[in-house]
Amino acid sequence: MLEAYSRAWIEIDYDAIAHNVKEIQKLIGKTKIMGIVKANAYGHGDVECTRALIKSGVDLFGTSSVDEAVHLRKNGIEQDILILGYTPPEHFHYLVEENLIQTLCSYDYACKLNAYASENDVTVRAHVKVDTGMNRIGVKYQKEEKHMDQILAEYRLSNVHAEGIFSHFPVSDELDTDSLSFTKQQISLFKEVLENLKKEGIDPGLKHIQNSYGILNYMDLGMDYCRPGLLYMGVTSDDTIDILSKPDFIPILSLYANVSMVKTIEPGMTVSYGRHFTAQKPMKVATLAIGYADGVPRILSNKGFEVLIHGKRCRQIGNICMDQFMVDVTELEDVKEGDVACLIGVQSGQRVTVDTISRMAHTINNETLSAFAARLPRLQKRGNDEKKEL
Ligand SMILES: Cc1ncc(COP(=O)(O)O)c(C=O)c1O
Repeated sequence: MLEAYSRAWIEIDYDAIAHNVKEIQKLIGKTKIMGIVKANAYGHGDVECTRALIKSGVDLFGTSSVDEAVHLRKNGIEQDILILGYTPPEHFHYLVEENLIQTLCSYDYACKLNAYASENDVTVRAHVKVDTGMNRIGVKYQKEEKHMDQILAEYRLSNVHAEGIFSHFPVSDELDTDSLSFTKQQISLFKEVLENLKKEGIDPGLKHIQNSYGILNYMDLGMDYCRPGLLYMGVTSDDTIDILSKPDFIPILSLYANVSMVKTIEPGMTVSYGRHFTAQKPMKVATLAIGYADGVPRILSNKGFEVLIHGKRCRQIGNICMDQFMVDVTELEDVKEGDVACLIGVQSGQRVTVDTISRMAHTINNETLSAFAARLPRLQKRGNDEKKEL
């Protein structure tokens, strides 16, 4: 490791994305991949992930907002970008200037976008969003309420060109009977919409419905695209959830912090805010230069969360502070300031995972991973020692 990485950092193996893309492709047949790079690619670096995905042949990207899409354009990304969420009317001009594709959040929203485009004598590219059960955005097309008229009207707008159509799964990760039948129902509702469009002589354009668990559990649905975020990053949301396919993914993110100090404490002494940890015997304690403001969930405090130092598991003790926390290194020889602790990743053949952190924090890996990039520098992992700050 180089000294320049001091304190704490995440390391990303962008080269492993090519492997993960191949694993996804084994499951989806001829369906292509839309790389979901929203929220800075869940903290993994949107520009770098997009570039790595392009190298693997991915030609369409999904962001949550126009800001994220413009950020990609500013960094030289010329491929098509679909904005999966809401763009406020005052930002409609970016859609035209940057050649972006807007999701039609509702029929009223589509009309507003069309009015803007007509007034400015331009055409805006769009994908129709069909709400088959998520009840978030999109034109409702569910058993009780099927607004096919609105979907058809969106395709017939004068200055909005609907060149694709999609829906989203809320429970593709669950394999209980109810969830399986709910998701299957969504697929059949979506296919019904496609049939109705065909009957009206309308080409639906690019069709897509699967997120990561939609890919793992429903595999080849014969769509034009699927929309994985987490999977190309080499993880799922929760490794305790059963899935119907078992690809061999490589997690691309590792998390490290320096040891800032090593001390000994006597029985009865307490560690950190709140004094929730009391030494029962003489102990050696190492302080790590990373805390909850770096994305390590504070709820992990004193719960037995382990990090690797010298390849050995060391238990976290006391409350996690904003920028630091302590670990028990009593059993380790020669631990010293400047040593590297691994919180996620592999050290001397031992592995610690984001899944352990997420399960202890009662959350999903999506949230845990997204939190690390807010403050930590991100380094590109290349071989063992050659690393570059991004
Ligand atoms: C519309 C849409 N598609 C795809 C994704 C990617 O999800 P995942 O990371 O689970 O693949 C998301 C993320 O939440 C999304 O909102």
